[in-house]
Amino acid sequence: MPPSAWFGDGTDELQETSEDQAMSEKLSDIAQAMVADGKGILAADESTGTIKKRFDSISLESTETARRDYREMLFGADEAMSNYISGVILFDETIRQKAADGTPLVEMIRKAGAIPGIKVDAGAKDMALFPGEKVTEGLDGLGGRLKEYHELGARFAKWRAVVDIADGLPSFGAIHANAHALARYAALCQVNGIVPIVEPEVLMDGPVASHDIDRCYAVTEFTLKEVFQELYYAKVDLEGMILKPNMVIAGKNASAQASPEEVAEKTLKVLKACVPPAVPGIAFLSGGQSDEQATHHLSLMNAAGPLPWKLTFSYGRALQAAALKAWGGKAENVDAARKAFTHRAKMNGLAAKGGYSSELEQQAA
Ligand code: 13P
Repeated sequence: MPPSAWFGDGTDELQETSEDQAMSEKLSDIAQAMVADGKGILAADESTGTIKKRFDSISLESTETARRDYREMLFGADEAMSNYISGVILFDETIRQKAADGTPLVEMIRKAGAIPGIKVDAGAKDMALFPGEKVTEGLDGLGGRLKEYHELGARFAKWRAVVDIADGLPSFGAIHANAHALARYAALCQVNGIVPIVEPEVLMDGPVASHDIDRCYAVTEFTLKEVFQELYYAKVDLEGMILKPNMVIAGKNASAQASPEEVAEKTLKVLKACVPPAVPGIAFLSGGQSDEQATHHLSLMNAAGPLPWKLTFSYGRALQAAALKAWGGKAENVDAARKAFTHRAKMNGLAAKGGYSSELEQQAA
């Protein structure tokens, strides 16, 4: 908080009430639990449009029941959920759904000892006057929606901003608008007793995606600096939030791909330069990396510790791809799909402690 003398308006804004304190203690407890040792977050919050694309890959029609069955398959994987998953990000439809036996899906998650979370942004939309760039929408009415999600059991939320790299892009204006929206969202979450996952994603798989790793570094650095400045202006308590960033990595179409060691080194470098140690944890998105790449990179970074914050995963595709394929939309494949999910969750749980290796990957497979 800047000294109040700068603004000449008394001192009360500097005094935290005991209510504020209780709220911030609770938020920081939730945030710590989200990055508990050897655990990470399952991002299962694909919007109706995105899950349709995932189901297209297994030639399955995306009906409400199919979406429920798929999520029930994941959340009912007891070994994975209780040992390696700290929290699950849900989509609006899913947080209201019940398993085939009538148990709310949120209850399945809680019973496994994980925390239910909710995606609250309304998606990245074309930004007016900024051709080729997007700004994430969803702030209008967000306070009311957060209250309802809290009642439905959510204790953390997610808002994803996307920054694309192309010729002459990104622009300062688009990064700034996205950082500002992330900070407004995070503040609204905190006053509603919900831990915000702040996700500024510099894309590795945008429409061009031919940038090298150093361009990704520069754009990620600028984006994170802007995000933390906006979080500060918005008075967000850093101890009650989780950062969900991209790794520093070349675009998927780049001719030169960096080694895993370079990805780990440059990602740690940018995080150390931009993320205050008051932030309890950083949970990466996978962003289009292969399952094993995403696990390997995370493990290399944790092995290079000690680090000022917990580093873990909040993967969508890199946790689910093998399970989705094994499931194929068929009830008789549920056990095989849960086995595939458990394997991936276990490998990432090891990576969150810096203990993953390709030998373990082979043995356990
Ligand atoms: P991926 O790990 O598939 O990038 O998804 C994570 C996520 O939640 C993106 O918003």
